[in-house]
Amino acid sequence: EEGVNTVVAVDGPAAAGKTTTCLALARSFDLHYLESGRTYRIIAFEAIQRKIPVENTRKITGLCDELITESRSATLLTSDRYEPETLRATPVNVAVSTVAKIAEVRQRVTSLIRLWAGAQTRCVIEGRDIGTTIFPAATVKFYLTARPEVRAMRRVRQERAASYENVLGDVIRRDEADMSRASSPLVPAEDAIRIDTSELTFEQVVSRMTAACRNRGLEI
Ligand code: DC
Repeated sequence: EEGVNTVVAVDGPAAAGKTTTCLALARSFDLHYLESGRTYRIIAFEAIQRKIPVENTRKITGLCDELITESRSATLLTSDRYEPETLRATPVNVAVSTVAKIAEVRQRVTSLIRLWAGAQTRCVIEGRDIGTTIFPAATVKFYLTARPEVRAMRRVRQERAASYENVLGDVIRRDEADMSRASSPLVPAEDAIRIDTSELTFEQVVSRMTAACRNRGLEI
């Protein structure tokens, strides 16, 4: 369609391989990449720093507005002020699902993502609600998943410090929180291409996604 951006939406539970596969797609198809979970992590991290309880909806929403103003809107999404390790540390993992439950926060992050995407001609965005809520008319939608044990094991291999039990506990707890929240819960879009990556290699997953993107008219 003319005048409409190319948006590849990649949703799914924690540690399903969204980031690595999105980066591969971004490279092959020359797409701008956005990790939407990072924004929820930044808000959770700042709440911890400023000692704002994440259950306090009003204060967290205020913090969100403050951060958006401070960073001049959409750049909060791509701010390089935060180390990836800090945003992936346990306290943030624990706090982030509570922050992501807040409807007012989701509205704001949704607007930022739409604003960012509107400035790109072609992009790939990973998250939980990209194909369902943020871009229901995305060019291609994927829903990546894998058994919790497989996801936890992959993450343990990636981040050597974490213990399997802790990671598995975090993965299961966040899946449960993300899937059961009232405001845009994690659910596959009806028209999403679902890929269970439990028994697949990274190359196999990327090759399926690549084929689907080419099918929808994306050019390498
Ligand atoms: O993808 P991630 O693990 O970095 O995301 C962190 C949390 O942010 C995740 O547990 C739920 C939330 N999230 C969300 O609610 N909606 C998104 N589009 C992306 C992330």
